Amino acid sequence: MTLHISEAAPHQIEADAVVIGVTKESGGAVPVPGTKDVDEALGGSLAQTLATLGVTGEAGEITKIPSAGQLTAPLIVAVGMDAPAGGDATFDPEVLRRAAGSAVRGLLQARPPGSTEDMRIALALPARDSAEAAAVALGALLGGYSFRRYREPAPGASLTVLAHASDAAEAVQRAQVIADAVALVRDLVNTPPSDLVPATFAARAEQVAANSGLAITILDESALADGGYGGIVGVGQGSVHPPRLVRLEHAPEGASRSLVLAGKGITFDSGGLSLKPAKSMEAMKSDMSGAAAVLGAIQAIAALRLPVRVVAYLPLAENMPSGSAQRPSDVVTIFGGTTVEVTNTDAEGRLVLADVLAASAADSPDILVDVATLTGAQIVALGPRVGGVMSNDDGLREAVVDAARRAGDAMWPMPLPAELGKGLESAVADLVNLPADSRGGGMLIAGLFLQEFVPDGVRWAHLDIAGPAFNESAPYGYTPKGGTGAATRTLVQLAQDMADGRL
Ligand code: BES
Ligand code: MN
Ligand code: ZN
Repeated sequence: MTLHISEAAPHQIEADAVVIGVTKESGGAVPVPGTKDVDEALGGSLAQTLATLGVTGEAGEITKIPSAGQLTAPLIVAVGMDAPAGGDATFDPEVLRRAAGSAVRGLLQARPPGSTEDMRIALALPARDSAEAAAVALGALLGGYSFRRYREPAPGASLTVLAHASDAAEAVQRAQVIADAVALVRDLVNTPPSDLVPATFAARAEQVAANSGLAITILDESALADGGYGGIVGVGQGSVHPPRLVRLEHAPEGASRSLVLAGKGITFDSGGLSLKPAKSMEAMKSDMSGAAAVLGAIQAIAALRLPVRVVAYLPLAENMPSGSAQRPSDVVTIFGGTTVEVTNTDAEGRLVLADVLAASAADSPDILVDVATLTGAQIVALGPRVGGVMSNDDGLREAVVDAARRAGDAMWPMPLPAELGKGLESAVADLVNLPADSRGGGMLIAGLFLQEFVPDGVRWAHLDIAGPAFNESAPYGYTPKGGTGAATRTLVQLAQDMADGRL
C-alpha cells in the first residue's frame, strides 16, 4: 500500500475510485465539505442521487455511484460519517479516520477476484488542515490492512489524500509511521502461536531494533532464572518453548524525561494447569497484544525521533500445562524478592508483569505504563471495545485517558479501591496472585496486584485491553477482524505529550 498527497481536483484525479463523505441530517444524507467539486462535475445532482438511493449517512455506510464519464475516475464512493456537517468547523479526527477506513476497507474487500493491479483510491474527504489530512490518511492506511501471511498476497492499493493544507505532507508522513506500527502489532497478534513462540517474538524485536536504531537486550531462560525473574520463569516453565525477556531502549541525546513501557507477552494462554475451557482458549493467541503494542510504539517513537528516553519491556512466555508446569499453590519469587503464591495458574499475566514493573526501578522512570490483555473482567465491565485505565496517580490516569481519546483508542478511567486488595493476602507468601473469594472487580484486583510491584514514588498507569486488542466480531471503521493494534497509538501519544511538555 502506498500513500500520496495531492492538490488535484477530485473530478480530475486519475483513480479507480473517489471517496466522498456524506453525513446524516434529519432529511437524509447530506454531502460534507470536500464534496463540492464532485457535485459540480455531476451538474449539481449529488444530493438528489443520494436521496434516490436512500442513502442515510450512517457511520460506515458505503454507497457506490458510477460517475458515467463526468469525473476522470469511473466510481464515486460515498461513505457515511454520521457527524454534524460542521460548516466551517473541522471534523472530529476519529470520525474522519473511521470514514476513510470504512471506504478503503470496503473497496479493497469488494475487488473482483484475480485483479492484480494496484487499486487507486483517491480520498476527497474533508482535509482542510493538517489534522484533518492526517486523520484521513491514517484511517485509510489502517482500513487497508489485511493479514495475508497464510494466503495469496493481497493486490496492492495506491491511496491519494486530496488535501490543500500547506503543512499536510509532514502530518501525513507521521500517519504513515503510526500505521506501520499498528500493522506490525496486528501482524504479531494475528500470527498463530505455533509460529510466534517467545524466541520468535524476540527475534522479531531484534529486527525492529536493528531497523530503528534501538538498543536491545534479550534474556533467555537461564539468564532469567539467574537474574531472579521468578514470575516469567514460573509461567514459562510448562512450555517446550522457553520464555524470553526483551528490553529495548530509545535514548536520544539530551533527553531529560523517561518513559518505561511494559507489555504482557503471553504467546498463548491455555491457562496452564488451571486449564481454560476450550471456548475461552480460542482467542488466546492474542494474549501477547500488550507486548506487541509496546514494540510497535517504540518503533514509531524512534521513527518520529521523539526527544524522550523510552524503555520497552516485553516479558514473553507461553502458558502451558505439562509435567514441568507450575502448580496451583507453588510459590514464586518475583524480581526484587516479593513472594507470590500462585493460587491459579491462569492469572499469569500479572506474574510476568510483576517482574518487569519491579525491574524498571533501575531505569528511574518519570512515567511507567503497562499494557495487558489482563482480565476477562475488563470485558465484563467495559465491553469488547473499551479498555480500562488504572493508575496510582489521578492526574496521570486522566492524562492517559485523554491521550487515548486524541490518538483514537477507546479507554475509560477505572479505580483501584484499596479494600479489594485485602484479598491478596496469602497464608504462606507475601501475596496470592488470585484472591480465593473475589466477587466482582476482577480488573481492579489485577491492577491492585500490579501496583504492589511499582517502584516507590513512580507515577504508573495500567491499561487493560483484554477486549479491544482482538476483534472477534465483524470489521468496523478502520478496525479489522482479529488483531486491532489497540493501545499502540496511545503509547506513542504519551511519549509525544512528554516531549511537548504537556505530561
Ligand atoms: N489472558 C487472560 C485474560 C483475557 C480473557 C484476555 C479474555 C482476553 C480475553 C488472563 O490471563 C486470564 O486468564 N484471566 C482470567 C483470570 C482468572 C483466572 C481470574 C480471566 O479473566 O478469566
Ligand atoms: Mn490466563
Ligand atoms: Zn493471559
